Amino acid sequence: MDTAMKTKDLITLKDTSLDEINEILDRGDYWSQDANFRITNSSKVIDNPLVCNLFFENSTRTRFSFEVAAKKLGYHLINFEPSSSSTAKGETTYDTLRTLEAMGVNIAIVRTKEEDLLSEFAPKLSTTFINAGAGANEHPTQGLLDMLTIRQHFGQIEGLKVAIIGDVKYSRVANSNIVGLNKFGAEVLIAGPETLLPEPDQLEKNSKIVSIDEAVNGADVVMMLRVQRERHPRRADFSWDTEEGRNAYFQEYGLTKERFSKASPHAIIMHPAPFNRGVEIDGDLVEDERSHIFKQVKNGVAIRMAILERAL
Ligand code: CP
Repeated sequence: MDTAMKTKDLITLKDTSLDEINEILDRGDYWSQDANFRITNSSKVIDNPLVCNLFFENSTRTRFSFEVAAKKLGYHLINFEPSSSSTAKGETTYDTLRTLEAMGVNIAIVRTKEEDLLSEFAPKLSTTFINAGAGANEHPTQGLLDMLTIRQHFGQIEGLKVAIIGDVKYSRVANSNIVGLNKFGAEVLIAGPETLLPEPDQLEKNSKIVSIDEAVNGADVVMMLRVQRERHPRRADFSWDTEEGRNAYFQEYGLTKERFSKASPHAIIMHPAPFNRGVEIDGDLVEDERSHIFKQVKNGVAIRMAILERAL
């Protein structure tokens, strides 16, 4: 296989240069400015590109925004359902991807429980791969839409103070944001329960672990994260099944109105969603005018249009 064909894979932001990130953000910005995302300047380089969504973990935003993005670009999109496919008979993920390659799928958008399957498979197959979330490792398309949302609001990312709060250790969204924001020269402050924080020696250079109040005070961006209970080795750290336990988490680590009042006066709230109102974020703050949570969802379509175009 000609590995030069594979430069359009998007598997990790670690290997994506700042120039490439800026190109994707610029094109995403272009699509987001077009209220109806009309196809006025699509750079389709092959006829009828065939795109396949393969989600081995659940998704609403990523899966449907890729589907919307593909349709707006005039690409054909098919959905692979693990529960009704030969995965349920034991077919491996590699054999599934090899099979779809043989059918002529040009772009595969893949979400896995595993952290590094795509890096292993992508060099072996001619299909272009887009990582739609890999275990607790990376979610690069979410990181890109988050950076687009920040850049649109502030005009730049460099020098901003970004607080990332909650279950950072098991969050692929946090990982991609930390990598990308560091490339732009933002200051990233990380806070959350001790058992849900990364090891300090794994942090990027402009990132540090602080208390939640230190992270929020004066922050330009407050990015809250869902607690990824499905990835935790033990489930006993917090009493999630009782209202008392959820309230305790909210008071200690959640974004309360009181806590957010200490952020910069022009601060914005972000959350990749799905969110739990009253657990990691006050329900009213989700809808607050300073919340960009649904702007993130809207930008998700625009950035994924840019990513699909780039994949060809
Ligand atoms: N933010 C995000 O990845 O959401 P989904 O799991 O719904 O795709």
